[in-house]
Amino acid sequence: MAFDIEMIKKVYSQYDERIAAARQVVNKPLTLAEKILYAHLWDGNATQAYERGSSYVDFAPDRVAMQDATAQMALLQFMQAGRAKVAVPSTVHCDHLIQARDGAEQDLTRAKNESSEVFNFLSSVSNKYGIGFWKPGAGIIHQVVLENYAFPGGMMIGTDSHTVNAGGLGMVAIGVGGADACDVMAGLPWELKFPKLIGVKLTGKLSGWAAPKDVILKVAGILTVKGGTGAIVEYFGEGAESLSCTGKGTICNMGAEIGATTSTFGYDASMERYLRATGRADVADAANEIKAHLTADPEVYANPEQYFDQLIEIDLSELEPSLNGPFTPDLYTPVSRMREEAEKNGWPLKVEWGLIGSCTNSSYEDLSRAASIAKQAIDKGLVTKAEFGINPGSEQVRYTADRDGLLKTFEELNATIFTNACGPCIGMWDRAGADKQEKNTIVHSFNRNFAKRADGNPNTYAFVTSPEMVAAIAISGDLGFNPVTDTLINKNGEAVKLDPPTGEELPSKGFDVEDPGYQAPAADGSGVQVDVSPTSDRLQLLEPFPAWEGTDLTGLKLLIKAKGKCTTDHISMAGPWLKYRGHLDNISNNMLIGAVNYFNDKTDLVKNQLTGEYGPVPATQRAYKASGIGSIVVGDENYGEGSSREHAAMEPRHLGVRAVLVKSFARIHETNLKKQGMLALTFANKDDYEKIQENDTIDILGLTTFAPGKSLTLVLHHIDGSQEEIVVNHTYNAQQIEWFKAGGALNIIRANQAK
Ligand code: F3S
Repeated sequence: MAFDIEMIKKVYSQYDERIAAARQVVNKPLTLAEKILYAHLWDGNATQAYERGSSYVDFAPDRVAMQDATAQMALLQFMQAGRAKVAVPSTVHCDHLIQARDGAEQDLTRAKNESSEVFNFLSSVSNKYGIGFWKPGAGIIHQVVLENYAFPGGMMIGTDSHTVNAGGLGMVAIGVGGADACDVMAGLPWELKFPKLIGVKLTGKLSGWAAPKDVILKVAGILTVKGGTGAIVEYFGEGAESLSCTGKGTICNMGAEIGATTSTFGYDASMERYLRATGRADVADAANEIKAHLTADPEVYANPEQYFDQLIEIDLSELEPSLNGPFTPDLYTPVSRMREEAEKNGWPLKVEWGLIGSCTNSSYEDLSRAASIAKQAIDKGLVTKAEFGINPGSEQVRYTADRDGLLKTFEELNATIFTNACGPCIGMWDRAGADKQEKNTIVHSFNRNFAKRADGNPNTYAFVTSPEMVAAIAISGDLGFNPVTDTLINKNGEAVKLDPPTGEELPSKGFDVEDPGYQAPAADGSGVQVDVSPTSDRLQLLEPFPAWEGTDLTGLKLLIKAKGKCTTDHISMAGPWLKYRGHLDNISNNMLIGAVNYFNDKTDLVKNQLTGEYGPVPATQRAYKASGIGSIVVGDENYGEGSSREHAAMEPRHLGVRAVLVKSFARIHETNLKKQGMLALTFANKDDYEKIQENDTIDILGLTTFAPGKSLTLVLHHIDGSQEEIVVNHTYNAQQIEWFKAGGALNIIRANQAK
């Protein structure tokens, strides 16, 4: 699968010098996270210490990973960069677009038919530009990355929030939007606010029913869904070393549920075992040579309170198995208190489904521990009360688990083995009867359990727990069942008790696979045609945006003055629109349809100044565009917060909005607007927001002398013939002003490639 040992060796060869430079500027012992960050500075050796939580820093990630849903726009944009190949090793993984219903074989065939144009596009674009392509059925992105590409001390970005899973193999791996992935593949630096650092010291050792999942469920209970925001969580201590590599992956994976930038562990024997078992002995050998750099300096772990911004301590020996939920992954309930809590809160005790899988918990170890419970149920004459669904994490895991009889054990309990893909974890689950919206309970080993996430039913109470607990609770059919203390009645009427799970960290006979589902890119992709039908409604090749016309912008119409919260979801809604995320014109029909119009408190209803009629935002904007008239969007505080979805910046650009003027921006969205060649402006005086009237025509003056730190002037022409001038600010640096002038950052990259 062509993991790039030469690239890894190159990264390692720089570590000595870069860590020495970092030590000099930071002037104290370094955490692991700091070492990895300072070893990946875009400008090489550190020349200054960065302020945690405030400095914006350019980094040079080693890899990019993309899943099929988000890869579409990332790659359509990348094609605009004019490069022959990606600048860093990159992969695409087809895992999100496969619905779980009947079982692996039928589901995969159906998905290939339904989404063939997307898969063909991703396959051909990968082939052309030197990107590794993992076909539908090959596995879930983060499991495949852990098995093939993650390496200790590396830095990776991925277009999926659970990219952080690779921290289990000692990486700093961070989820980003498609625009960031595009930049890195195009050879540009990647900017990140230097994170704060949270240390989690693990003492003791897991035993009995407790699993790595219980560590992160506990951490989520302590920190809540917001507690990790802007921070890297670094796990350490004897307890950390006692966990398997895939167990560490589970813990890092759910760091996304506490909002953490990422999580990581120092390189240790478990990682070495995993690297060797997955055919990467040379990576293990290379890592062993720079071992001291792949963990924090000893002083850090000896006195962690001095080096982390926050410290948490967990004794694994005392950890109880737990279930988090419903509806939020930070509502922590140890199994011993579950019956009481469920009764108190009216959570249905009858469990309908137990689902094992997702990128969080679908390793060989996970399946083997859950299978050990399933096997006991068979041997002890128990009849499963709930239905069982299994999504193996990769074809390698599935094949090996099948060879070793694990899947057969589940099948004896009538489990449905779904495709090696996300399936129910991302709502791609055609669950029979879900449309009746009945109140019911499911347990799963996934990471997220927001309302409607798995089956679209808002009344499904989903609880997150370890795979072995999913197995036990599904067998009992009772949310309040505590396998540590309780017995079950078998078909002979006898009371039987389940023994604690046993499993194998790695398969004793080694991993095996016939066809992993990987397509290597063409050595020379210049002759490869990218497969996009001109009549497709899901995919559309992008046209470069036009350059700035070189004059002030006059006669702009106010499109909408948005009131209150306006997140990227209000600007570019998800749900059914996700289908069009590879087709800019079609998805633009959702532009700002969630934003509240200041003048009538309604969504998706604005005045068309050309006709005086009220209509949907996208249609109104298309009318302005058709008449050759630019427009301006006005917004409130923290405009564009939420996800890094690049569509929220591309849609207004595509439909002819020229500027977005707000009280304040969410930084990522502001940068995305700049990258697309838009004007992102803020009121110098926030009260001027009140001066914007529904029928305003607006001029933006000062663009011919556009410069960093220099304000611009807006002239508001009101309908009564009066006019007002207001001052607006911006944060464009010299480079970003060039983006504006060229009509977008990609236009500059393409022009540079052509030189
Ligand atoms: Fe897929 Fe769910 Fe993970 S959607 S990538 S299995 S979080």
